[in-house]
Amino acid sequence: METFARIFFIFLIITSCKRDPKVIEPVVSNGNVYAPLVPEGWPNPVYDFSGNEVSYDKFTLGRYLFYEPMLSLDTTISCGSCHMQTFGFTNGPSHPVSHGVNGLLGKRNAPALFNLTWQPKLMWDGGVNNIENQPIGPIQNPIEMHLPLGNALARVAASPKYKNLFKNAYGDTVVTSQRFFKSIAQFMGLMVSYNSKYDKVKNGNYVFTASENSGYTIFKNNCAVCHSEPLFSDYTFRNNGLPVSSYQDSGRYRITLNASDIFKFKTPSLRNLGLTAPYMHDGRFTTLSQVLSHYETGISSTLNLDPILSGGIILTAQEKNDLLNFLATLNDYSLFSDEHFKEIH
Ligand code: HEC
Ligand code: HEC
Repeated sequence: METFARIFFIFLIITSCKRDPKVIEPVVSNGNVYAPLVPEGWPNPVYDFSGNEVSYDKFTLGRYLFYEPMLSLDTTISCGSCHMQTFGFTNGPSHPVSHGVNGLLGKRNAPALFNLTWQPKLMWDGGVNNIENQPIGPIQNPIEMHLPLGNALARVAASPKYKNLFKNAYGDTVVTSQRFFKSIAQFMGLMVSYNSKYDKVKNGNYVFTASENSGYTIFKNNCAVCHSEPLFSDYTFRNNGLPVSSYQDSGRYRITLNASDIFKFKTPSLRNLGLTAPYMHDGRFTTLSQVLSHYETGISSTLNLDPILSGGIILTAQEKNDLLNFLATLNDYSLFSDEHFKEIH
């Protein structure tokens, strides 16, 4: 049964990567190891898997842990509760800010999870610099999962299901924090989103409509300086002129304590916006039209406003329509319905 599942898994990977002939296919070797892919024309990822060799069993362990509510104090919240696959691994439209144990609300919008290995720094303020270190924050955070890491590991170690999963992945049943973090990093690190219409156009398999093409030009003239291709972010920290909210969130400054970082947040990718509403670090905008209105007339001259945006981005109704059509070509529905990343218990 297990062998069958494994072969089936590899089969799915191979067939799903046949969608686009020019994209580098993951390497399958030893029957059950596959490598993360770097789509053609993309830069090399920042996180490399050389110290965390990817295998089906480690990935699968990471998948179970990602969807494991036992990692929260009252066993109600898993990573997947706030990062839901069908919403691009965000918390979905009804949660502008995230929702943790005991119904407690955070102050920030749960970011989409994809192409994480290309990000030099994670979180809206860049407070975490590695996908392996990331999970400790939400597990221990009192308004997220609120469980000391030691307790989380002890719960996992006591579970017969995880004894098996750890044995398959690492050869014995010993639960260490390193194994725990590395397997979750494999699950998240393989969430590579590269199958949008935009990617297919770049690979020569599809063409843009006239409207998408003109939207692409508008994007390159107005947005690409920060939301740069092919990841649609340069991952720098900037103030894009949002009026300061009641959360009084100072962004990057909270990490660096450098006054020139007040109100700066990480530039997010523009891929998959069709699945990841609401938008911005606090989820204040529910539609992309609201986002474009912000760039047009909503720019607020707060401390450290990015000078590129001081005059706003003024577009005609036709230009806005074309830009929205172009942005829609960045939606990749395949990753967010891919069986390998679905909830599992
Ligand atoms: C209560 C909701 C909640 C839970 C549970 C949660 N997260 Fe998050 N996650 C968030 C929020 C909100 C942020 C952004 C926080 C910030 O920027 O300060 C975030 C950020 C992240 C990021 C950084 C993404 C980026 O682009 O910077 C990763 C990776 C991540 N979470 C993975 C996980 C993992 C793994 C778990 C489980 C161990 C988890 N999250 C549990 C809400 C949650
Ligand atoms: C000067 C750099 C800069 C420029 C130019 C810029 N942006 Fe942004 N953008 C940002 C930053 C920084 C954020 C995150 C702000 C925050 O949440 O505090 C952001 C956030 C967004 C978001 C929210 C995404 C999400 O996942 O929440 C969208 C959508 C967006 N920008 C679209 C655009 C479009 C379209 C253009 C061109 C018309 C544009 N941006 C121009 C820097 C920029």
